[in-house]
Amino acid sequence: MTVTERTGAAPRPTGPLSKIDYSERIPNNVNLAADRRLQRALESWQPQFIDWWKTLGPSLPTKDVYLRTAVAVGRDGWAHFEHVPMEEYRWGIFLAEQDPDRTVQFGKHKGKEAWQEVPGEHRADLMRLIVVQGDTEPASVEQQRVLGNTAPSIYDLRNLFQVNVEEGRHLWAMVYLLHAYFGREGREEAEQLLKRNSGDLDSPRILGAFNEETTDWLQFFMFTYFTDRDGKFQLGTLKESAFDPLARTCEFMLKEEAHHMFVGTTGVQRTVERTAEVMKEAGRPATFEDGVIPLDVIQKYLNFQFSVSMDLFGSEQSTNAGNYYTSGLKGRWQETRRKDDHVLLEGSRSMNYVEDGQIKQKIVPMLSALNLDLRDEYVADCANGVARWNQELEEAGLNDRLFLPHEGFNRKVGGYAGHFVSPAGEVLDEAAYDGLVSQWLPTSEDREAVAALMIPEYEYGKFARWIAPPKSGINDQPVEFDYVHLAEEGVA
Ligand SMILES: [Fe+2]
Ligand SMILES: [Fe+2]
Repeated sequence: MTVTERTGAAPRPTGPLSKIDYSERIPNNVNLAADRRLQRALESWQPQFIDWWKTLGPSLPTKDVYLRTAVAVGRDGWAHFEHVPMEEYRWGIFLAEQDPDRTVQFGKHKGKEAWQEVPGEHRADLMRLIVVQGDTEPASVEQQRVLGNTAPSIYDLRNLFQVNVEEGRHLWAMVYLLHAYFGREGREEAEQLLKRNSGDLDSPRILGAFNEETTDWLQFFMFTYFTDRDGKFQLGTLKESAFDPLARTCEFMLKEEAHHMFVGTTGVQRTVERTAEVMKEAGRPATFEDGVIPLDVIQKYLNFQFSVSMDLFGSEQSTNAGNYYTSGLKGRWQETRRKDDHVLLEGSRSMNYVEDGQIKQKIVPMLSALNLDLRDEYVADCANGVARWNQELEEAGLNDRLFLPHEGFNRKVGGYAGHFVSPAGEVLDEAAYDGLVSQWLPTSEDREAVAALMIPEYEYGKFARWIAPPKSGINDQPVEFDYVHLAEEGVA
């Protein structure tokens, strides 16, 4: 079917629309009012979303939260901050401005006009990509649902809720595309996005890392550092898509995503800072008895979250990824900055694999290894934060350092799956690995001990003992600002 059939309405205006209309029931900058059928379909999805938010969103009752809301998608001043009751946050549909001259930058359609509608031949693949991305957004809200009960400060609580409402908005972004461009099937997929739930045995979220429990705040910080960063890289490839509405949606989502990774980077950094302080004072490794998280446990959490996030990139070699590229659906990270032909029929690269208990290299066609290409970019980016965390150790005069484990450690997806690789990159047999794994991944005792430190601190400007205060507050407000007003007893 042609895409104008999808709603039976006139094609949407395609000029640059950067201002967001907040007088609408669904705030948007896509001129939703001009397409009544689409507007009604989304308005009927809206109460389902609110129900989902109330049931599986943050469980801590609050009166209001100091949140940022998008007001325009342009370069300056897109964010506005104020105290709002979370369920009244204006979730909406915001696409980055359209470039009317945009052309496809890679693959077999390179040089042709970007698509404003979905080509029939790529409909199924595009819908799948959107559904998989869309599924991760509400999943993380579900995973983080109870964390508010143990927040180390009101400042951190506010950041958690900011991340949560924005992940909710990212779900809106994908649901808009499904409703606007994929007809009845798209609407059905949009319903399913609220029906699958993180960790649900019968109907789990699509990707593994999004069914893991977020047990405590260290895990949350590791999640926003490593797993939201996977999101950044996936969105970065979709931002290159020939399907222009998807590209523009992802471009704006990336702006919001930056804050989520800030929460992770600084959250781990402040945890390390506190631990390092205790180590320096005591002249020995910190223990749970000191009221902080021991450095080796921080490393185990890092090992875990990094390895499950690496799995999100899929198999190193993938025909699907190659086809998505050739078809123009999904580009590479910073596609336009790459100095090659952007078609990749000729190129090759080296790839690690395990054989006879050793990690070896082989040369493979570039086009077959695009998941690996993206994953390598991701790993390089991950290393930056680790360097920042290590600065805290260095400044405390300590020799200990955190590190990223080997790419083969604890992998369930791709060429390393089924092998037993240590964080240092040695290939072990199963028995040797099993004997050592409790030194590398958090044990249930580790998680319990971390959980025992998670005593909520709701007094403005105060912080739980295990984490250092941030250097500055949000939006130039002081650290002790009343970022969150908790619901008064019995009023919730
Ligand atoms: Fe997101
Ligand atoms: Fe995120």
